[in-house]
Amino acid sequence: MTDEPILRDAWARLDALAARPGAPSIRALFAADPDRARRFTARLGDLTLDLSKTAIDGETLVALLDLAYAAGLDGFRQRLFAGAMVNPTEGRAAMHMALRSHAGDGLMALDEKASVLAAAERDRMHGFVARIHDGSLRGATGERFDTVVNVGIGGSDLGPLMATEALTLARGGRMAARFLSNVDGTGAAGILRACDPARTLVLVASKTFTTDETMSNARALRSWIAASLGEDAVGAHFAALSTNAAAVAAFGIAPERMFGFRDWVGGRFSLWSPVGLSIALAAGWEAFQAMLDGGRHMDAHFRDADLADNLPVLLALTGIWHASVLGYGQHCVLAYDDRLRRFPAFLQQLEMESNGKSVRLDGTAVTRPTCPVLFGEPGTNAQHSFMQLVHQGTRIVPVDFILAARPDHDRPEAHLVLAANAFAQAAALLQGKTLAAVTAEMRASGVAEADIARIAPHRVFAGDRPSTTLLFERLDAFSLGRLIALYEHKVAVQGFLWGINSFDQWGVELGKVLAKGILPDLTPNLTEGAAPGAHDASTAALIARFHALRET
Ligand code: F6P
Repeated sequence: MTDEPILRDAWARLDALAARPGAPSIRALFAADPDRARRFTARLGDLTLDLSKTAIDGETLVALLDLAYAAGLDGFRQRLFAGAMVNPTEGRAAMHMALRSHAGDGLMALDEKASVLAAAERDRMHGFVARIHDGSLRGATGERFDTVVNVGIGGSDLGPLMATEALTLARGGRMAARFLSNVDGTGAAGILRACDPARTLVLVASKTFTTDETMSNARALRSWIAASLGEDAVGAHFAALSTNAAAVAAFGIAPERMFGFRDWVGGRFSLWSPVGLSIALAAGWEAFQAMLDGGRHMDAHFRDADLADNLPVLLALTGIWHASVLGYGQHCVLAYDDRLRRFPAFLQQLEMESNGKSVRLDGTAVTRPTCPVLFGEPGTNAQHSFMQLVHQGTRIVPVDFILAARPDHDRPEAHLVLAANAFAQAAALLQGKTLAAVTAEMRASGVAEADIARIAPHRVFAGDRPSTTLLFERLDAFSLGRLIALYEHKVAVQGFLWGINSFDQWGVELGKVLAKGILPDLTPNLTEGAAPGAHDASTAALIARFHALRET
């Protein structure tokens, strides 16, 4: 796709804009345009997206939008919402939007009535959650459930964990929620130590119901329930969230305890599906539904708004300018909100599993960098760890600042300090500090000239470092849903413009296969007499050393 002449021209225009002398000086853009902050800010209700602290000027924005039009982004939006096969390598639609739609919205996934199917399953989930909460559904010993353990990994963990924390950290939840993902036995041991089996409901969340880590952990918790309460108790303490009814039944979970979804929901887009049951149990059904409503609101905006006013499109184009035109290889997300402390981890899967690709849909290699490496931590904590590099390092790392204007706690003064820091970090990245300013400041404080000469260069900030800011009124379930869907659509737009498939994840397969081949060589008692597998020399040496260390 990128080789089509019209697209070649669009990319060439962007390259030419980036190569202009003096570009990309963000400070110069502010100096030249007093109205820049307003002109480069987009809004959807209270949600404000400020792009002004990037090197995008009017011409660049037009060129980015031209790229989007030339590539046919309008048509892609239509195909996505029509439930077309936008994931051709797996032969699927990507219709996670149906999970937050109303039954009457009529969304389809290929030839399935996606809105109707999703609404029906949502009703079943709602009934289940209501019965757990009102105590009509209890554990095998008759005790009420007070803890839910979600066993899942990747999209079956990160989304539910991130959203549950976001919605319960400030005010507490209806039930305690724990998340068991890693196959490292430490996680399961911690849960066994902390939870009372009689009051614990286990959700096995796995789209495929074959993921090794999840099945291993699910079996560990099954044995724990059986050992503590008896084999007959297992059914009352488990539920499954999956597309694989046969595997769920084989595990011993009854059909009425299975909440299903379809293959047109990708794992990293599945928190809106039954995979989000832990969110509903912990934060309450109203919160879960409000989160879906927020997602649906963003869907309508993304589907209908002009590209030039479209928040996911603008965020995506800004990212493309940074990653694929200016060549910035990293991207940092700083939510100034402890409730969003797992948001960067969630985004890592959403963005990097979706767009960490180097082959286009037509099988040819991409010619420009695609998804940057994404990382982040809550602000202000990040300021005291890696922000040094973002301010003064040799790499330019664009930052997304995320901030709610109103807190959800009783220390409003702390929130003002938090917000001041968020704004200050973005301002510092933009403004920087010149050698002249540092020198004058040191002189004014009476520092000796020799010390000024020695130290001043270390205190210079280059400035002109890009950031975007997302500011909204408060973080609640609705605005959380809106925020997540904003990034989901950003990812889809970027993948489309890069010409790659955002909805498959073949890159995770090879390691899984190799692990299966290595495991027998780590457990020689299981394979006595069998020849060791063929490994590269380094892996073979590490396996030998592993055995040696365990024998001492
Ligand atoms: O290995 C990657 C992956 O396939 C993710 O895409 C997915 O979210 C995760 O594993 C878990 O898969 P499942 O929900 O099928 O257990």
